[in-house]
Amino acid sequence: MKHAPAQLVSIDLAQRSYSILIGSGLIAQPQTYADLPEASQALIVTNATVAPLYLQGLRGALQGKYRQIQEVVLPDGEQHKTWQTLNLIFDALLGQACDRKTVLFALGGGVVGDMTGFAAASFMRGVPFVQLPTTLLAQVDSSVGGKTGINHPLGKNMIGAFYQPQLVVCDLEVLRTLPERELSAGLAEVIKYGPIADLGFLDWIAAHLDALLARDPVALAHAVKRSCEIKAHVVAQDERESGLRAVLNFGHTFGHAIETGLGYGQWLHGEAVGCGMVMAAELSCRLGLIEPAFAQRLTALIARAGLPVRGPQLAADDNAGRYLELMRLDKKSQAGEIRFVLIDGPGRATVRPAPDALVREVIEACCA
Ligand code: NAD
Ligand code: GLY
Repeated sequence: MKHAPAQLVSIDLAQRSYSILIGSGLIAQPQTYADLPEASQALIVTNATVAPLYLQGLRGALQGKYRQIQEVVLPDGEQHKTWQTLNLIFDALLGQACDRKTVLFALGGGVVGDMTGFAAASFMRGVPFVQLPTTLLAQVDSSVGGKTGINHPLGKNMIGAFYQPQLVVCDLEVLRTLPERELSAGLAEVIKYGPIADLGFLDWIAAHLDALLARDPVALAHAVKRSCEIKAHVVAQDERESGLRAVLNFGHTFGHAIETGLGYGQWLHGEAVGCGMVMAAELSCRLGLIEPAFAQRLTALIARAGLPVRGPQLAADDNAGRYLELMRLDKKSQAGEIRFVLIDGPGRATVRPAPDALVREVIEACCA
């Protein structure tokens, strides 16, 4: 089958720069991998859901380039983003006598991508890896920018490393098999880029949401490309999140509390982020940073994308207290003070603390 040429977004990080390829049918095309460094071994990391769909195509495309191609198939699910599962990757690398040049290929959603990246960062103190994101969420966010890691029972993504891939391959064709709920979860991260960076993009999403939900290839291609451009621009300025990059965490402070509080895998990451954005917008509003109309518009868009907009109860007795307790463990907290990503003007974000009493009011107003 003939495909339109891939589009390319570059991420400019000096010697760690790389390309994000966006197009259809890319995973199974040998040409996609032509510029990767020479090596004799490749290890594909995927999961039990994605392997039957796309592993064979990837293997076929890599055949001419690597003498030995091995694979490790992880259990599927956020609840498996753990030390135990990570160790399966190390078992495969060591069991197959992989060397320092071995290239890891992460074939899957954000869970596979984050764990493979962390394995690549730490195996022999660093081997090359390639991101092949197969969910919308992973294509627009997690595969780009080099955040890798695993969860801890007490906190989400608490153990990890900044480690950039050699290449990111966003194959839009694989989004056809994505369950509807996962498509909506990915849209949460697409929507996120509007309020924090690009109001024009927010308008575009609102106008094309039905096309995105219907998986129109042209609309999906634009959503992935624009999201990657915005993320690449932010990461290029602040790779290790010493400041600006934190704006990409809009909705995540509340969202991570939801994921950890309910137990990993109960709400999807994108669902928690969607609802977290509603709460963060409400907090921005109560701090007088934005007009209520903007928060309402954002909430309506998140709901239209098929995402929950009311937070869950995390504790029967003191629900807001439980949210606050979990949010104090957020990576942005400083000396026990929670720092929120807030909208301080349409298309602009800031990171700052807020009074506990006000945060309590927001949680009470926003929870079911
Ligand atoms: P996921 O990896 O769990 O994938 C979602 C589900 O879709 C899984 O069941 C998966 O097997 C399945 N799947 C994947 N591709 C498919 C396809 N093409 N067809 C059918 N099914 C498919 O979840 P996710 O939403 O991709 O990623 C969420 C994770 O990403 C979270 O752990 C989150 O913390 C992390 N994340 C990381 C960053 C970062 O910067 N590193 C950013 C955002 C999110
Ligand atoms: N997803 C947030 C970041 O990459 O910084």
